[in-house]
Amino acid sequence: MRIRTFDEYQAAYNHSVEDPEGFWAEIAQEFQWRKPWKKVLQWNFEKAETKWFPGGKLNITENALDRNVRERPNYPAIIWEPNDPNEPSVTFTYKMLHEYVCRFANVLKSNGVQKGDRVCIYMPMVPELAVAVLACARIGAIHSVVFGGFSAQSIADRINDSACSIVITSDGASRGNKQIPMKDTVDDALIGCPTVKKVIVLTHTRTAVSMLKGRDVWWEAEMKQVTSDCPAEEMDAEDPLFILYTSGSTGKPKGVVHTCGGYMVFAAYTFQNVFQYEPGDIHFCTADIGWITGHSYIVYGPLLTGATSLMFEGVPTYPDAGRFWDIVDKHKVNILYTAPTAIRSLMGFGLQPLEGKDLSSLRVLGSVGEPINEEAWHWYNEHIGKGNCPIVDTWWQTETGGILISPLAGITKTKPTYATLPLPGVQPILVDENGKEIEGNGVSGNLCIKFPWPGIIRTTWGDHERCRTNYFAAYPGLYFTGDGCLRDEDGYYRITGRVDDVLNVSGHRIGTAEVENAINMHTGVVESAVVGYPHDIKGQGIYAYVITESDPDHEVDLIRRDILATVSRIIGPIAKPDKIQFVKGLPKTRSGKIMRRILRKIAEGDVSNLGDTSTLLDPSVVDDIKSGALVEV
Ligand code: PRX
Repeated sequence: MRIRTFDEYQAAYNHSVEDPEGFWAEIAQEFQWRKPWKKVLQWNFEKAETKWFPGGKLNITENALDRNVRERPNYPAIIWEPNDPNEPSVTFTYKMLHEYVCRFANVLKSNGVQKGDRVCIYMPMVPELAVAVLACARIGAIHSVVFGGFSAQSIADRINDSACSIVITSDGASRGNKQIPMKDTVDDALIGCPTVKKVIVLTHTRTAVSMLKGRDVWWEAEMKQVTSDCPAEEMDAEDPLFILYTSGSTGKPKGVVHTCGGYMVFAAYTFQNVFQYEPGDIHFCTADIGWITGHSYIVYGPLLTGATSLMFEGVPTYPDAGRFWDIVDKHKVNILYTAPTAIRSLMGFGLQPLEGKDLSSLRVLGSVGEPINEEAWHWYNEHIGKGNCPIVDTWWQTETGGILISPLAGITKTKPTYATLPLPGVQPILVDENGKEIEGNGVSGNLCIKFPWPGIIRTTWGDHERCRTNYFAAYPGLYFTGDGCLRDEDGYYRITGRVDDVLNVSGHRIGTAEVENAINMHTGVVESAVVGYPHDIKGQGIYAYVITESDPDHEVDLIRRDILATVSRIIGPIAKPDKIQFVKGLPKTRSGKIMRRILRKIAEGDVSNLGDTSTLLDPSVVDDIKSGALVEV
């Protein structure tokens, strides 16, 4: 599975196009299967159906844990760095992690969890979060991790969508100098969740919590009741492994489903090749396990490779803006994988936080989640990598399970702001609005993929039609990513951002419709329209145009504050608009459609060229909006 030179890359790429099934079967054979697959691949993009290795039997934790316990029992699997730098870090060897996971898997069983049940996990970045994830996989339960920054309402929506029977949480979380109640938020969520029968609560911050008799149990007490002997459940390659909710351009977030076999192969293959992992490397991915990056490159990819994954509980600016560099220095990190937002925000602190920090252990730098601008790319390269570390700008999505377009560290020649070339096994194609392929180089279009890879989304939980219409209907026969893309003269790919109504705020994916629905819940709001605008640190900021029942003139600040509180409560603080402009009307066509193009331009401060407004029902609305625009000049 390992590619080591550019010639090998090209040979592997050609092989993967000529004989995709042979290519992936060879890679899949490197894993431990209980029974071989009956077929390598069955697919039909018209129906949004893909099956990899059907009939093959396995358990992903036998590959991520048992195999490593046999080969390297005392090798560190997870190093945990706490929020407070004065507290000790904790190391779990593969043997310890295996035992911990098996024991907790027995706790799940003794609390009634069975194969196929859905388990909601809402936890801080502590090792037990990884343990909970792996324990679900051990017994064939489907984990649905909800990012710790989401509100009670968002948790409830996700629990109800997939009818989870149990929630795993902790009393609280420590982030910077704040303590965040988690169990409290879960309690609020569960008022509206009839399917949840049990809640397992980890003691972490010792925040006071209410424990409901018959429903809530303590993690620690339960662990004492069980043994650490838990044989792994036999799973079909196509049995669901997890659900992860993500935002689309319409409606509520959808539950992206990944399955056991294909995801396993793809997470490990991409981890090894993109980062060029070497035994002994310490891999530090700064994402939260609540996002796909954490699933694939903190938990599954590294552990399937027998690597050491560093997990950090806190934030990059606590106790000061040098924290990442302290961690790199302290643990001698070799691979650092972070988001452009974090780089841009740390750049703002200048070079002082880097003083006295030894970053010489670094070998590979990664970027993920949003386009990386030139300035951030160069800063990362010069000040963190000291010009010696290849930067892998990795493009992928929750739906793709793992990285699709990226340099292979030290092998692919990099170019600032370019994700460069597809991994072997990945066949990108650019199409125009009508779905016609745009061939050649020096072109741009909508990015699609024309052949399945093992990590591709299988369905959206409970609503397969939604999966089909979202990803496979726009351009029949292709998987549509929702991203715009440029292919330059060298055939290098550069992702230019979403072409649909999905925002990317600090690398967090948020649907405009979701934010509008939350704003519209506020009393007195008649209607709203949300667009993104360029933001120096966050990449994109959220700009909301809001119509209220009465003229808000006198109480603008108060109403604004209340709207922010409403959005926080309905979705979570990450979805709070950066700017709210009160307007009398929205630019609508005669058929009632909001012309977002105009709103986007105004939010960007580009009011000189709004294009054709003659089809608007009331063109005067535009002048009104322009005159009140909240743009810095
Ligand atoms: O627009 C692309 C952007 O993030 C979207 C996927 O978001 P999510 O599912 O939350 O997954 C994020 C982590 C993989 C994509 O549709 N995106 C992700 N990586 C990049 C990127 N845009 C540009 N360059 C990237 N490297």
